[in-house]
Amino acid sequence: MQVIIFDDAQHVATNAAEWVAELINKNPKPVLGLATGSTPISLYQQLVNKHQAGQLSFKNTTSFNLDEYLGIDASNAQSYRHFMNENLFDHIDIDISKTFLPTCAQGENPRTQGLKYEEQIKQAGGVDLQILGIGANGHIGFNEPTSSLASRTRIKTLTQQTLTDNSRLFDNNEFQPTLAMTMGIATILDARYVLLIATGESKAKAVKDMVAGPLSAMCPASALQMHENAIVLLDKAAASQLEDQEYYQWAHDQNIKINQEFGLYHNY
Ligand code: F6R
Repeated sequence: MQVIIFDDAQHVATNAAEWVAELINKNPKPVLGLATGSTPISLYQQLVNKHQAGQLSFKNTTSFNLDEYLGIDASNAQSYRHFMNENLFDHIDIDISKTFLPTCAQGENPRTQGLKYEEQIKQAGGVDLQILGIGANGHIGFNEPTSSLASRTRIKTLTQQTLTDNSRLFDNNEFQPTLAMTMGIATILDARYVLLIATGESKAKAVKDMVAGPLSAMCPASALQMHENAIVLLDKAAASQLEDQEYYQWAHDQNIKINQEFGLYHNY
C-alpha cells in the first residue's frame, strides 16, 4: 500500500486528478471506477476543469460506480446517478450510455442485478482505476463492517453509523434509504489500481485501521492491504493517527526517484 500525505484536501484532489488524467491519456479504452460522497467532489471538479481547458477527453471512457441506493431512480435527487450527473457527467464528454451504476429498481431482483453488474464490468475488460472514499467505520463502497472480504456486487443493509453520517445530506422529512446495491470487496480488489482518498479528522481512525490494523472484515478497507496497487492519498488530518508518517513521505520520495531513473510508472 502506497500512502501519500498532503498538506490539505485541495492537494489530495489535485493529485488524485493527475492519476485519473494519466490513465485516461495513456489507455485507449479506460475503465474508471467511481465513488460518490463529499470527498471526491473536488476531484471531479478538477477533472471538469481539465476537460474544459481542453486537456482531457472522456470520449473513450467507460465508468462503473461503486454503489446506488435501492429502489431509487435517476429522477430522485438523492440517487447516486443524479450525483454523478451533477458533479461530473453533465460537464464532460463521456458517453452517458457507457456510465454504469449498480441499480436495482423496485420489484427487480437484487441478486440478478448484482450478477448483471459483475458481468458488465467483465465485458468492459475490468476496472483499470477504482476511486474510493472511506467511511468513518472503515467501509468502502457500502461494504459495511463484517462484509465478506470475498463479496461481489449485492444488496447491503446500511449500518446505523453510515445512516447517521449520511443524514446530513437528507432534509428532515426526506426518505433516507437503508438498503443499497454495492460492488463487493472482491469486486473492488479486482481493479488494476485502487486510489483511495480520505480527508479530515473524522476519517483518521478508519485510515489507521486500514493501513496499520489487522486485515479484518471489521474494517473492510483493510482488504486493500491485499491489493498489489493500492494508493492512499490523505490530508494531514486524515493521516493524523498514522505512526509511520515520516516513512511514508520518505518512501514516496524514493518512489519518485526510482520512477525517474527506471521509467517505471503505472502500467495502465
Ligand atoms: C460512496 C461510497 C462510500 C463513501 C464513504 C465516504 O460511493 O462508496 O464508501 O466513499 O462513505 O463518504 P464521504 O466522502 O461523504 O465521507
